[in-house]
Amino acid sequence: MSNLITPYGGELKDLYLPAAERETERERLKEYPAWDLTPRQLCDLELLLCGAFSPLEGFLTRSDYEGVCERKRLADGTLWPLPITLDIPGALANRLEPGARLALRDPEGVPLAVLDVEALWEPDRRREAMCVYGCDDPAHPGVRLLLERSHPVYAGGRVSGIDMPVHYEFRARRHTPSELRAVFDKLGWRRVVALHTQNVLHHGHQALAHRAVQHAEANLLLHASVGDGTGERVDPFARMRAYEQLLAQFPEQTTMLSVVPLASRFAGAREALWQAIVRRNYGCSHFAIGERHGSAAGPAMVSGDHVAEALRRHADELGIEVLVFPEFVYVPERDAYLPRAAVDGAETSVALSSADLHQRLRAGDEIPSWLLQPAVAAELRRTYPPRHRQGLTVFLTGLSGAGKSTIANALRVKLLELGGRPVTLLDGDIVRKHLSSELGFSKEHRDLNILRIGFVASEITKNGGIAICAPIAPYRETRARVRAMIEPVGGMIEVHVATPLAVCEARDRKGLYAKARAGLIKGFTGIDDPYEAPENPELRVDTLDCSPDEAAQRILLKLESLGYIR
Ligand code: PPS
Repeated sequence: MSNLITPYGGELKDLYLPAAERETERERLKEYPAWDLTPRQLCDLELLLCGAFSPLEGFLTRSDYEGVCERKRLADGTLWPLPITLDIPGALANRLEPGARLALRDPEGVPLAVLDVEALWEPDRRREAMCVYGCDDPAHPGVRLLLERSHPVYAGGRVSGIDMPVHYEFRARRHTPSELRAVFDKLGWRRVVALHTQNVLHHGHQALAHRAVQHAEANLLLHASVGDGTGERVDPFARMRAYEQLLAQFPEQTTMLSVVPLASRFAGAREALWQAIVRRNYGCSHFAIGERHGSAAGPAMVSGDHVAEALRRHADELGIEVLVFPEFVYVPERDAYLPRAAVDGAETSVALSSADLHQRLRAGDEIPSWLLQPAVAAELRRTYPPRHRQGLTVFLTGLSGAGKSTIANALRVKLLELGGRPVTLLDGDIVRKHLSSELGFSKEHRDLNILRIGFVASEITKNGGIAICAPIAPYRETRARVRAMIEPVGGMIEVHVATPLAVCEARDRKGLYAKARAGLIKGFTGIDDPYEAPENPELRVDTLDCSPDEAAQRILLKLESLGYIR
């Protein structure tokens, strides 16, 4: 008999079919229409099947959905704060009707479960956004997911599991609610505080965890959400190694780390309620949360509803005891972490912020030991080295004949002389010969060409090398897409080689401008096809007032000032 808290709603809903029925169902489902789940839907299905979303037995039907949106309650009155829905394309919905069965497969097409379709409807997304987020502003990450990234029809109904989703990463740290409950029982843990995290845990979180454990006289579960990528600001592998390091700092036998594929909705108070319910299903008696939690999980104010207040208001129904802690700050004079309200007005205090930590990580700046345990910082530095050891793309853009290739070659040699990182030159001509030989100069083809360059450059950058790109890249929006590919994995410097058109044309080394003027070449950049000059490049050089070698030197100095070389 377990002494742990009962699951939400009384029992854990294990939605997997009995082993004997699975083989038959596996055969049958080849006949059903199929849907390959998105990564976020896969997270939801996995948590439905294993009972983490008990008492749900499937994706919400229409009446449950309406109740959840409007009152945070299922049709039977049970408190349930977020719509767990399955969105599918209209074309697939047209092949279904209530009573149909839909095979649910992972993104690679492996069947995992069957949905007994009970309801199909086209939801009013703006209304859902207003209910869940209190706004329909697409700048809000949750609203954006809802309005822009979901399919038009919801399919609701019971799900029956056939196979568990396969994960190759963090296997040893994954537990279903019944597995985690069994571990707690085996260890003799009865009171367990869950700490939800999707960030690196800094000293502020640690202070909160310590207080929570002391207050509840309980063991600690670091419950890290991984999976859909949306809410993750740090590489999940690095984050996991950082947790392992941190774990070593807690007294042995008191703390456990587990990962959970919880796809964040960024929904403030509703999200916090949902997280608490899920933790109860995993066997935790307490759920610790910081008052600034709202900023990580979405805005704290949702329909005038503060996170802490909502948790307190629903405390009885939630059953799990929620511990809401104020923000902790660092007080250097006392070398201590205290709630902001406990700091003497005369003392200085330093805010502990995840945003600041992430910024320091990405920029390769020093991470002070008052913010993060040195062992954890050292671990993260392996993935996020200081700037002078990070990968980097130097992206030169400018008209044909502006001098991009000459500057790029001079820069390449200077960087090779400096040493330390491999250097790859992706010059326009080389790329058009090896990567884009079938492409011409239409807008579509130029875009493809530039995005291919961007992809290769991002791979080089990700792996710690330097990519020098030197295409014309005439369109602003396409250059922005290249930047968006590269910046998450390393440095990106855009250099506008701003040699004026008249000068390029006068040089006309390849005789192409003359041909373009004569109408023999159509769609030539600068003549009858636009060149959209960068508005805010990191650097602008003009080969009129300096030689290619000097231009390369200026780029080098820019790289040095930004910390990319030293
Ligand atoms: S793009 O627009 O970025 O895809 O162009 P890119 O791959 O850099 O190729 C530019 C070189 O191709 C030659 N060329 C043309 N340029 C512009 N417009 C048209 N229509 C065109 N047709 C051929 C030209 O020599 C460019 O050479 P660079 O190396 O830029 O001087």
